[in-house]
Amino acid sequence: MDLLSIADLSKYEIEKILSLSKTKQKSITGKHVVALLFEKPSTRTRTSFESAATRIGWSSIYLDSLSLQMSRGESIEDTAKVLSMYVDMIVARLGSHTDIERVASSSTVPVINALTDLEHPCQALSDLYTINEAKGKLDGLKIAFVGDIATNTANSLMIGAVKMGAAMALVGPKSWKPNEKYFEMAKKYGSIEVYNNMKDGLEDADIVYTDTFVSMGKESEAARRRRIFTPYQINERTLDYADDKALVMHCLPAHRGEEITTEVLDGRRSLAWKQAANKLPVEEAILEYVWRSEN
Ligand code: CP
Ligand code: NVA
Repeated sequence: MDLLSIADLSKYEIEKILSLSKTKQKSITGKHVVALLFEKPSTRTRTSFESAATRIGWSSIYLDSLSLQMSRGESIEDTAKVLSMYVDMIVARLGSHTDIERVASSSTVPVINALTDLEHPCQALSDLYTINEAKGKLDGLKIAFVGDIATNTANSLMIGAVKMGAAMALVGPKSWKPNEKYFEMAKKYGSIEVYNNMKDGLEDADIVYTDTFVSMGKESEAARRRRIFTPYQINERTLDYADDKALVMHCLPAHRGEEITTEVLDGRRSLAWKQAANKLPVEEAILEYVWRSEN
C-alpha cells in the first residue's frame, strides 16, 4: 500500500495503526540509535562515530543542522528535547561551546562533544590513546603544542595530558595567549608552561603536536593568523629542537606547507595517520562507556 493521503486509509486501518502504535515504545535495550548533530564540516569525526556506532551494533543518524528546523529558527533547546525522544545519545559538533551546554541541559539522553569552539574532548582521548600506544606511557612525557595554543584541540589536550601526568609546553607567539580558563585549570592538575620560541618550547619534547593555523569559524582572521603563526611551522629544521625520538602529531585536516610540511606529515616521525585511525576504537569505547554509565 501507499500512504500519500489520510484519505487513503479506512476507519479500520486508522484504528489498526493507532492500536499498533501503543505497542511501540522507545526501546531501552537492544539496538541503540545515536544522532550526529553537526553544524560544521567533518571527515574523521563524523565517519568514525558513524562507523563506531555500527560496529558496536547501534545505528546512527547524521543531522546537518542546515537541514533541520534549527535553520529556520527552532531553538537549540527545543531541538535537543525532541531529538532525545527519538535517539539514545547525541553526538554534536557545534560552533559555540555554550550551545552544546544548552543541548545537554535540554536533552534527556547523553550528549557527547564532537568539537566546539572551545573543546575537542574525543580527539584528546584518542590522542592520549595514540601517545600511550607509541610511547608506552603518558606519565612523565613532555608534550609540546605548537602554533594556535588557544584552539579547541589545545584546550582539551592540555587538560587530559596533565591529568595523566604528562607535562605540557604551549609554544606560540607572544601576542597569542592560551585560553585563560583552560590554562588555569591545567595548572591545577599538573605541569604546564608557555614558550614563545621554538627552541625552548621543544627542548626535550617527546611529542610535538600542531593543528591548523585557521580553525573553522576563524576564517576572517586568516591573514593575521598565518602571519603570526608562520614561525611556528613544524618542519625538519624546527623539529631538530625536540628530542631525537620525538614524534609529531596533528589532529588533521592538515594544511601542508602552513602549520606542517609534507615531509614531516608523511615522514617516519608522524603519528597523524595513526591518530586518525585510532579515533574509531576510542569512539566505540566512548559510546559504550557513556551508555553504561547512564544505564
Ligand atoms: N580531527 C577531526 O576532528 O577531524 P574532522 O574535522 O575531519 O572530524
Ligand atoms: N582546531 C581545528 C580542529 C579541527 C579538527 C578547528 O576547529 O577547525
